[in-house]
Amino acid sequence: MNNPKSSQRRKFLSAMAAAGLAGMTGCGGGGGDTPTGMFQGGNMGNGAILPPTGLGAGAALRTPANFSGDTLTTAAGNYDLGGGVRAGAMLFNGQWPSPTIRVPVGGTLDITLRNQLAEATNIHWHGLAAAFGMDGHPTEVAKPNDNRRYTFAVNERPGTYWYHAHPDRATARHAYLGLAGLLIVDDGNDAARGLPTGARDIALVLADKWIENAAMVYRPNSADIMTGWMGNAILVNGTVGPVATVMEPAVIRLRLLNASNARILNPALASGRSFWLIATDGGLLPAPVMVNNLLLAPGERVEILLDLRGEAGQSVRLVSAAFAAMGSSLMGGMMGNAFPQGAAFDLVNFAVSGTPAANPGSVPAAFEPITRYVPSTSAPTRVFDLSQADGMMGMIGVPHRINNVTYDGARVDFTVPRGTLERWRFINRGMEPHPMHVHGTQFQVVSRNGSEALRLVTDLGWKDTVLVRPFETVEIALRFNVAANYVLHCHNLEHEDSGMMLNFDVV
Ligand code: C2O
Ligand code: CU
Ligand code: CU
Repeated sequence: MNNPKSSQRRKFLSAMAAAGLAGMTGCGGGGGDTPTGMFQGGNMGNGAILPPTGLGAGAALRTPANFSGDTLTTAAGNYDLGGGVRAGAMLFNGQWPSPTIRVPVGGTLDITLRNQLAEATNIHWHGLAAAFGMDGHPTEVAKPNDNRRYTFAVNERPGTYWYHAHPDRATARHAYLGLAGLLIVDDGNDAARGLPTGARDIALVLADKWIENAAMVYRPNSADIMTGWMGNAILVNGTVGPVATVMEPAVIRLRLLNASNARILNPALASGRSFWLIATDGGLLPAPVMVNNLLLAPGERVEILLDLRGEAGQSVRLVSAAFAAMGSSLMGGMMGNAFPQGAAFDLVNFAVSGTPAANPGSVPAAFEPITRYVPSTSAPTRVFDLSQADGMMGMIGVPHRINNVTYDGARVDFTVPRGTLERWRFINRGMEPHPMHVHGTQFQVVSRNGSEALRLVTDLGWKDTVLVRPFETVEIALRFNVAANYVLHCHNLEHEDSGMMLNFDVV
């Protein structure tokens, strides 16, 4: 088969020079501020589009099964996006979508991976601090027909985490083809907090795929690796454009995971109405924050409340609104992808019941406070220069890097003392956005371009992944409590697999 995106590739090299110049003019040559309006996630219109996948829309929203038992078997498997059964997925326990793992705070995760794939894989518990050897480090894999047992205590805050395959140089393909699911940590106190639970607590795994003939396609060439592989449709719990019927006209909680390889989402309501951000990667904010939209980069999660009390009998559409994405969108568009970074998409349609809800709930005023880290020094403990990641103009064939090196599983890049508060600085002088992810802890975002005030709304809570936009410098404060061998990487998985990752040991 031909690469569906390659027909216009021949035009790309000449077009790229123009894009680079346009981008550089628009951003003033770089090194400083992110230009106003660029990558702000500002709402450029909620006219979401239905993908030309031939799949239509309107299938029922699926709820991933809850995981039970003690084994996750990885194997090749079939799936159905609504256009017939297709082969070629990689599945956990044969399930599409992947099961949701639920762990109580203070509980023990004890799961054995049985790898029935024809290649090595593993499982990473994204957002959790696993014990030594349990993190799903890219070099710690189960070979075909081998097992690997993961067991460690889960001492994180309640929140929306996830798990996915993470084998060195194959994470992108394995996660894209199905090896990714939700991991929800719960302390049983959400009802007491006044939060919606049960049928009013809905988790949505959002992941874009390039779909042809009702099948997922994954065949990035070097230009796709530069921007990351971006699809023509967004699957919501494994379905395109689903409808969630008979939602109550009540306060509803949505847990959103962006499990896309490279696409940044901009969740918003098609009506433009506001909603409440209540949690980020590592749990609840100190209080709900009203927003109209928010940027959700690959790897990030948020929890939001939709107040549907006045929406009885209405249809409420959740979309990913269009936003200006600078380099990646210019280049993506030039490469013949009609759905570049920043394109609008429909996510899910909520059909709200006309019957009044018993106890429709309300939006809580506050949750537990977050103690802010106060780094003792304004000088960063460590600096990560992402600038060589793609070159100023995103040069095809130049590997993605951090501090000018590409990933080597055998090399330990730095060592961090356990229990010490550190301050890390990420510098992006290039035109590609990089959602930077740190294994083994939750961190706090200190500043963007040196300013607390420039932080995004999602920077106000606990984070394990932070979007570093073009020409932006982001500082975080963090401390590790569990000694292990971890990685730090871009969660644009094509960037990560092509080398944008470092090893570090917490000792
Ligand atoms: Cu979700 Cu190292 O990754
Ligand atoms: Cu992770
Ligand atoms: Cu990146």
